[in-house]
Amino acid sequence: MNQRPEGHPRGSCGSAGARAVYDAFMMEVEQRGLFAEVLVTATFCMGPCDQGPTVVAYPEGAWYGRVTPADVKELLDSHLEKRGPVQRLLLS
Ligand code: FES
Repeated sequence: MNQRPEGHPRGSCGSAGARAVYDAFMMEVEQRGLFAEVLVTATFCMGPCDQGPTVVAYPEGAWYGRVTPADVKELLDSHLEKRGPVQRLLLS
């Protein structure tokens, strides 16, 4: 959820739409009744700012970049069904 000023050379997840991604996760978790199983929490900078919004999924430790709200259902499905990380979104 880190937000740097417009034009900052590092960019930020906040400028790349992190709030909408966070809201999509919260909405999906609520609609599925998963609050006892899934914790969605916001952070500040985790490092790969130019590839944000960044999402990390535990316990797998999968790091994702350029996540959009449209990716949220797929990410939840993949991790909850233990199919492993969503390869196309993994950070290199
Ligand atoms: S601002 Fe998101 S990783 Fe740095």
